[in-house]
Amino acid sequence: MISWSLCLIFSLFNSLLTFASPAKQLCRSDQKNALLEFKSEFHFNGMAANEKTQRWTNTTDCCSWDGISCDIKTGNVVELNLWGSSLNGSLRSNSSLFRLQHLQSLNLSSNNLAGILPDSIGNFKYLKVLKLYGCSFFGNIPSSLGNLSYLTHLDLDGNDFTGELPESLSNLHQLTNLLLASSKLTGNFHHALLNLSELTAIDFSSNQFEGMLPSNMSSFSKLEYFDMSVNSFSGPIPSSLFMIPSLTRLNLEKNIFSGPVEIGNISSPSKLQELSLGGNNLSGPIPGSISKLVGLSYLDLSFWDTVSNVSTNTNRFVLLKHFCQSIPRARTSEWLWTLPGLGYLDISQNSFSGFEGTSDVIQRSPIEMLDISSNSFQGNIPTKICELVALETLVLTNNNFSGSIPRCFENFNTTLSVLHLRNNSLSGNIPEEVFSASLISLDVGRNKLSGELPKSLINCTKLEFLNVEDNEVSDTFPFWLRMLPNLQIIVLRSNRFHGPIFSPGDSLSFPKLRIFDISENLLPLDYFAGWSTMSSVVYIAYDKLHRFIGFTFSNYHKSVVLANKGSKMELLGSSFRIYKTIDVSGNRLEGDIPQSIGLLKELIVLNMTNNAFTGHIPPSLSNLTNLQSLDLSQNRLSGTIPPELEKLTFLAWMNFSNNMLEGPIPQGTQIQSQNSSSFVHNPGLCGAPLKRSCGEGKEEERKQDEEKEEKDQVSSWIAAAIAYAPGVFCGFVIGHILSSYRHDWFLRIFRTFA
Ligand SMILES: *[C@@H]1O[C@H](CO)[C@@H](O)[C@H](O)[C@H]1NC(C)=O
Ligand SMILES: *[C@@H]1O[C@H](CO)[C@@H](O)[C@H](O)[C@H]1NC(C)=O
Ligand SMILES: *[C@@H]1O[C@H](CO)[C@@H](O)[C@H](O)[C@H]1NC(C)=O
Ligand SMILES: *[C@@H]1O[C@H](CO)[C@@H](O)[C@H](O)[C@H]1NC(C)=O
Ligand SMILES: *[C@@H]1O[C@H](CO)[C@@H](O)[C@H](O)[C@H]1NC(C)=O
Ligand SMILES: *[C@@H]1O[C@H](CO)[C@@H](O)[C@H](O)[C@H]1NC(C)=O
Ligand SMILES: *[C@@H]1O[C@H](CO)[C@@H](O)[C@H](O)[C@H]1NC(C)=O
Ligand SMILES: *[C@@H]1O[C@H](CO)[C@@H](O)[C@H](O)[C@H]1NC(C)=O
Ligand SMILES: *[C@@H]1O[C@H](CO)[C@@H](O)[C@H](O)[C@H]1NC(C)=O
Ligand SMILES: *[C@@H]1O[C@H](CO)[C@@H](O)[C@H](O)[C@H]1NC(C)=O
Ligand SMILES: *[C@@H]1O[C@H](CO)[C@@H](O)[C@H](O)[C@H]1NC(C)=O
Ligand SMILES: *[C@@H]1O[C@H](CO)[C@@H](O)[C@H](O)[C@H]1NC(C)=O
Repeated sequence: MISWSLCLIFSLFNSLLTFASPAKQLCRSDQKNALLEFKSEFHFNGMAANEKTQRWTNTTDCCSWDGISCDIKTGNVVELNLWGSSLNGSLRSNSSLFRLQHLQSLNLSSNNLAGILPDSIGNFKYLKVLKLYGCSFFGNIPSSLGNLSYLTHLDLDGNDFTGELPESLSNLHQLTNLLLASSKLTGNFHHALLNLSELTAIDFSSNQFEGMLPSNMSSFSKLEYFDMSVNSFSGPIPSSLFMIPSLTRLNLEKNIFSGPVEIGNISSPSKLQELSLGGNNLSGPIPGSISKLVGLSYLDLSFWDTVSNVSTNTNRFVLLKHFCQSIPRARTSEWLWTLPGLGYLDISQNSFSGFEGTSDVIQRSPIEMLDISSNSFQGNIPTKICELVALETLVLTNNNFSGSIPRCFENFNTTLSVLHLRNNSLSGNIPEEVFSASLISLDVGRNKLSGELPKSLINCTKLEFLNVEDNEVSDTFPFWLRMLPNLQIIVLRSNRFHGPIFSPGDSLSFPKLRIFDISENLLPLDYFAGWSTMSSVVYIAYDKLHRFIGFTFSNYHKSVVLANKGSKMELLGSSFRIYKTIDVSGNRLEGDIPQSIGLLKELIVLNMTNNAFTGHIPPSLSNLTNLQSLDLSQNRLSGTIPPELEKLTFLAWMNFSNNMLEGPIPQGTQIQSQNSSSFVHNPGLCGAPLKRSCGEGKEEERKQDEEKEEKDQVSSWIAAAIAYAPGVFCGFVIGHILSSYRHDWFLRIFRTFA
C-alpha cells in the first residue's frame, strides 16, 4: 500500500516536472522540424477527427505527440504511427519524412498517399516494421526495400502496385511477415525468396502472379500462414507445403493449379487448420492422406465460388462444392467422417452418389451442418445420418433419394433447425416423429410424400418456413398451423389439401404470415354448391417487401415459387424478391370484382385469370399505382376497359383476353404497348392494338348499362384498409372478397392478415 502510494506520488511529481520545464524536451529539434514539415506536405480537410497530427505544434515535445515514440536516450524518433490519419497527398522522394533516419517502425497505413513509393524508403536503415497497407500507392515496389536489412514486417497490402516483385526482397533475412495482398503485382514467385527462412506469414493473394510455386518449400520452416489465393499460379500444388510442421493456414484457392493433390508423408502431427484449394483445376481423387491433417477444421476443395454464403461464426467447416464433377459417381470417402474437428460439411453440387465407410466412423463426427445437396445420391436416406446427433442443419435437397423419410430423424428432436429434403423422390408419410422442437425451416417440397401433414409440427414453435409443395399430401386445410407463432411462409401448393379453408368460428390468425400459397390443391366439386365459393386453386402470395429483406435465419435455402408475369420464379434464401401479389387464378370465383380493390394500393401483381368473374372492370383499379401485372383474362367480364387504367404507368403486363369486353381500348402508352393477344376474344373490343376499328353507336347504351350496374356493386368489401392499421404486421390481402356470404372465407383470411 505504502509503496503503491509512493509510486503514485513519484509519478505525479515526475509529470509535474515535465510540465514545469517545457524547455527540457526529449525531442531533438531537427526531428521536430522534419515532422512539422512532413505534416505540412499534406492537405488536411480540417474536418477529420482522426488526424493524429492535429496537436503537433512547435511548442510541445515532439516525443509526446500522437503517433510518435522516441528513443529515451538519444531523443531520436524511432516510431511513427500515423495509421488512418487522413494524410492526403503523395509521398515525395524529398519528403522531410526521410530525415527521420532513426525510424524503426513506420506505419502510414490507411491514408491516401496516391503516388509512387519513393526509393528513399530504402534509407531508413534501422527500419524493422514498415506498414503501408491501404495507401493507394502505385508503380513498382522499390527495390531499395532490399536495403532494409533489419526489416521483420513488410505490409504493403491493398495498394495498386504493379510490376514484378524486386528480387532484392530476398536480402531481407530477418523478414517474418511479407504481406503483399490485393495489388496488381505480376511475375513469378521468386525462388530467391526461399532464402527467407524466418518467414511466418506470406500473403500474395489477389494479385496477378503466375507460374509455378517452387516444388521444395521446406526452407520456410517457420511458416504459419501461406496465402497465394486469387492469382494465376499454375502447375502442381507443392506437397512440400504440407510438410511444414508449423503451417496452420494454407490458401491456394482461385488459381489454376492442376493435377492431383499430394499430401505426402506427414510425420509429425499437422497443425493445419484451414486448407483452401477451391477454384482450381485439380483432379484425381481426394487424397486419403487428408485424414492425416487431424487439426483441419476448414477444408475447401470446391471448384468455384465457395465461402461467400457460409456463415463463418463457427470455425469448423468443410467445403467441397463442385469437387468431383470430373469423377462422376464418386463416393464420399471415409476420411470425410474421420476428421475429428469437422463441424461443417458441405459437399453440395458435386457428383457424389453414395456414402462409403461411413458406417463405423460417422458417430464420432461432431458435424453440425451437413449439406449434400445437388449431388446424385440415390436410394434410401442412410439411417447412419441419424447418428450425427449434433446436426443443426441437414440439407439433402436435389438428389435422387427415394424411400421414406427415416423415422430415426427423431434423434434430431432437440437440435435440428433446418431440414431440407426438397426435390428428391421420397414417398410415404411424413413421419410424426421427425420434428425437432428447434425446427425453423422445413422444406419437403417436390417429393412424392403422401398421407397427412403430421400434427406433431404443432410442437415446432420456432418454425418460420414450411414448404410442402408438389407432393401428394392429402389432408384438410391445416388450420392448426396458426398455432405456430413464428410461421412466415406456408407453401402447400400442388397437393391434395381439401375441405374448407376456414372452420366456422375460427379466425385464421397467423401472426407473422407473409406468404401463403395453397394453390393447386384438390377440392371436392360439391364444395362450390355450398355457401362458400371455395376454390380449387387459391394462390395467395403476400408480403411486405422491405420488411421481408430481414427474413433470414441461418443462411439456409428457403425457396418458394411465386408466379409473376407468366413465369414461375424460384425465390431462394435471403435474396427473396417478394411481390405484393394477389393471385386467385384458376378458381371458380364468380361475381363482380369489387370497387374496393382500389384500396389495395401497394398491389403489384393482380391475377384473377380463369375464373367466372362477371360485371365490369372496376375503374378503382386505377388507384393501384404500383401495379405491374394485371391478368383479368378468361372471365366473363363485360363493359369497357376503364380509361382510368391509363394512369397506371408501371403496368407493364396486362391481359384482358377471353372476356365479353367491348368498346375502344384506351389509348395510354402502357396499354397500347401490349400485344394484341392481350385483348383478343372479346366480342366488342375495338381499336389498336386490335385490328378491328371502332364503329359508333352503341356507346350511349353501354354507358347507361354501366351506371346501373355500378349501383349494384357491393361496397362491403371490407375495409381492406385494415391491413394498414399501425402495428399490425401483415399488410396484404388476398384476393377476391365479394359482398356476399358466399365469399365469407375470403373475409376470414383477410382478417387473418389484418
Ligand atoms: C519551430 O520553432 C523554432 C524556434 O522556436 C524555429 O526555429 C523553427 O523554424 C520552428 N519550426 C517550424 C516548423 O515552424
Ligand atoms: C499500424 O496501425 C494499425 C492501426 O492502428 C495497428 O493495428 C498496427 O498495430 C500498427 N502497426 C504498428 C507497427 O504500429
Ligand atoms: C485530397 O486532396 C485533394 C486536393 O489535393 C482533394 O481534392 C481530395 O478531396 C482530398 N481527399 C480527401 C479524402 O480529403
Ligand atoms: C520536393 O521536390 C518538389 C519537386 O519534386 C519541390 O516542389 C518541393 O519543394 C521539394 N520539397 C522539399 C521539402 O524540398
Ligand atoms: C542499397 O544501399 C547501397 C548503399 O548502402 C546503395 O548503393 C544501393 O543503391 C542501395 N540499394 C538500393 C536497391 O537502393
Ligand atoms: C540464398 O542465400 C545464399 C547466401 O546466404 C546465397 O548463396 C543463395 O544464392 C541464395 N539463394 C537464392 C535462391 O537466392
Ligand atoms: C529442400 O530444400 C532443403 C533446403 O532448403 C534441402 O535441405 C532439402 O534436401 C530439399 N529437399 C528436396 C527433396 O530437395
Ligand atoms: C512415406 O513413408 C513411408 C515410410 O514411412 C515410405 O515407405 C514411403 O516411401 C514414403 N513415401 C513418400 C512419398 O515419401
Ligand atoms: C428425443 O428423443 C429421445 C428418444 O430418441 C427421447 O428420449 C427424448 O425424450 C426426446 N426429446 C424430446 C424433447 O422430445
Ligand atoms: C407436443 O409435445 C408434447 C410434449 O412433448 C406431446 O405430449 C404432444 O403429444 C405433442 N403434440 C403433438 C401434436 O405431437
Ligand atoms: C396468372 O395465373 C395463371 C395461372 O396460374 C398464369 O398462367 C398466368 O401467367 C398468370 N398471369 C400473370 C400475369 O402472371
Ligand atoms: C382512390 O383512392 C382515393 C384515396 O386515395 C379514394 O378517395 C378514391 O375513392 C379511390 N378511388 C377509387 C375509384 O376507389
